[in-house]
Amino acid sequence: MKKLPLLFFTLFILSSTFAQNPVYKDKNAPIEERIDDLISRMTLEEKVMQTNQWTYGKNSNPNNIEDRMREVNPMIGSLLYRATFPQARNQIQKKAIEDSRLGIPIIFGFDVIHGYRTVFPTPLAQSCSWNTALVKESCRISAKEAWLAGCDWTFSPMIDVARNPRWGRVVEGYGEDPYLNSVFCVAAVEGYQGKDLSEKYTIAACLKHYVGYSMSEGGKDYHYTDVSDQTLWETFLPPFEAGVKAGVATLMSGFNDLTGIPASANHYTLTEILKEKWGHDGFVISDWASIRNLTNQGYAKDRKEAGLKAFMAGVEMDMMDNIYVENLPQLIKEGKVPMERIDDAVRRILRIKYRLGLFEQPYVDELTEEERFLLPEYLEVAEQLASESMVLLKNDNQTLPITSNNKSIAFIGPLLSDSVNMMGSWEGMGKAKDVYTIIEGVKAEFGDNATLNFAAGCEFDGSDTTSFAEARKAALASDVVVLLMGEKKGWSGENSSRSSISLPAIQEQLIAEMDKLGKPFVLVLSSGRPLELIRINSLPDAILEMWQPGTMAGPALAGILSGKYNPSGKLTITFPQTVGQIPMHYNARPTAVKGLGYFQDVPKEPMYAFGHGLSYSSFKYGEVKLSTEKISKDEKLTVEIEVTNNSEVDGSETVLWFISDPFASITRPIKELKYFEKKSLKAGEKSIYTFEIDPMRDLIYPNSKGDKILEAGDFYLMVNDQKVKFELVD
Ligand code: BGC
Repeated sequence: MKKLPLLFFTLFILSSTFAQNPVYKDKNAPIEERIDDLISRMTLEEKVMQTNQWTYGKNSNPNNIEDRMREVNPMIGSLLYRATFPQARNQIQKKAIEDSRLGIPIIFGFDVIHGYRTVFPTPLAQSCSWNTALVKESCRISAKEAWLAGCDWTFSPMIDVARNPRWGRVVEGYGEDPYLNSVFCVAAVEGYQGKDLSEKYTIAACLKHYVGYSMSEGGKDYHYTDVSDQTLWETFLPPFEAGVKAGVATLMSGFNDLTGIPASANHYTLTEILKEKWGHDGFVISDWASIRNLTNQGYAKDRKEAGLKAFMAGVEMDMMDNIYVENLPQLIKEGKVPMERIDDAVRRILRIKYRLGLFEQPYVDELTEEERFLLPEYLEVAEQLASESMVLLKNDNQTLPITSNNKSIAFIGPLLSDSVNMMGSWEGMGKAKDVYTIIEGVKAEFGDNATLNFAAGCEFDGSDTTSFAEARKAALASDVVVLLMGEKKGWSGENSSRSSISLPAIQEQLIAEMDKLGKPFVLVLSSGRPLELIRINSLPDAILEMWQPGTMAGPALAGILSGKYNPSGKLTITFPQTVGQIPMHYNARPTAVKGLGYFQDVPKEPMYAFGHGLSYSSFKYGEVKLSTEKISKDEKLTVEIEVTNNSEVDGSETVLWFISDPFASITRPIKELKYFEKKSLKAGEKSIYTFEIDPMRDLIYPNSKGDKILEAGDFYLMVNDQKVKFELVD
């Protein structure tokens, strides 16, 4: 009997320790147990609040007009954090930790698309570098800058395979090929998330826009997307599957009406494919108001029904709309939403918060701007990536690089001192004042050895030709002319589709004027999309597509022009001859009548094809060698090709390996990219490039249900201008 008080005392101590340190707060307990414990303690209101994202801070996206600063509710699941101060984030987080009953941390998200404060080239440009390691590094740096500003999560990468350059958002993704989008997706996810999300400086990634969004009719943003299941499986889903396999934390459901069932209420894609087939255990956030938009699309009669459909289809978090908060409790009461689905959604959101380590480390370091942003090593990566992204489309008479024989150079065009448009769309927290302009870059690169003549020439648009005279004068006084033309940043990006992809008439007119002067003449283009060049392509001696290069625009471009950097970019999206040829992509299906059926008024070949890009070096390809000509499905076939840098200049060459499957039960594209490799080759150096064909990875294709099909028969390997046959035997 004497032992009883002692027992009570021990129980009392144990239970109070337990209350102070419940399992969900115990960092040594397994995450799933912590979640179980936390969910068991949460009220319905607390659960529903987790499924909401509000915005905090300045909003500059015209689509998101409803932005308002709200009193932050400490129970909120997430904030779209548009401020750059870690202090503000920490204060809000403190409120969540200390003022909410259970102290669940908030996850802070932001669109870190191609950099946070250090702006890298746009994703479309980045893909033209074919340098996945560098892209991954740019994402690592972006994550670090973003984390130190208070972000845990980025709405990136965008992996919508984009084949319509009229669609403004082509600039945000990695071009027209599903394999390339998959490879860059993995690089981006690994760059942002690192090896362990709970470590400092890593942020959760978000694949978007799931799925088929880039197929909007005619390239008009937000419009209907008619995507067959076959196309869904072979073109649009593969990059998402690759990202899920790479461990991406979240996905964003698209705005698009996907063949009658909008992507933000599509049970097939969001639940059956993503969660059940691929086993994704993170969560899906809607795009901005894409749940409410279901009412505009005619898929839900009101907000409540929109919420019900999106939530039950598999969207766990509502970006910006409050629809879940307003309607989920009632929908539960009515028995339309089961409690298990709420718990599943909350579990998924909490899982990512736990993986991010937010329960253990809810706050970020508070450093000064100088300590956090634009560090010299970041700028180095930005310059390298910008220079590797640029694509030399044409270089007659070796007009580029501009050698020291040229004693005077004219630089003409509205982009010369531009810093805003150099950053491109979705520049994160990039500031124009940080951008190294082209004028600064060329002065530093050429200023000591040549006289530089500058002129604006014209505006981006309009009809004022009064500055042409000044441009002519600058050109006539120079040995070589560099004309910088292109698009403003707002001409591509969200809600920025264009019916024409030509340069404005005034720019084409100035190009024609420069041509008349008979001087060696280089055209530098800056754009967020492929341009229609048919009227001007033959005029300049050289054309360089520099895209929108970001913070280090000036030095990167100047380095390419001088030959300090040797161009190594290749197009990841086709430049058609005219806008009327769209859709035009390399991996089209064969036509019914060989060689016929093309538009009669333009050449059938594109102006610049996928994979096109020149170098100051010349590379000689040897004969492709196959380890065997017949393989079975469990064997591998090794193909090799020797490439020689047959020039006096060091350079880099990317070898693109394509496979063609000429006859199949479901028709296949003419050829498909399966692998690529970029290597630096010193002048005169030879190197063997190798591709190991694995039938189970490289010869299979999906049917319209997503089943993988492998069929014996002939295949062709295509590399450079060679095409060799091999056989897959049963
Ligand atoms: C865009 C998304 C973006 C979101 C948040 C939307 O309008 O479509 O790509 O992540 O806004 O800013």
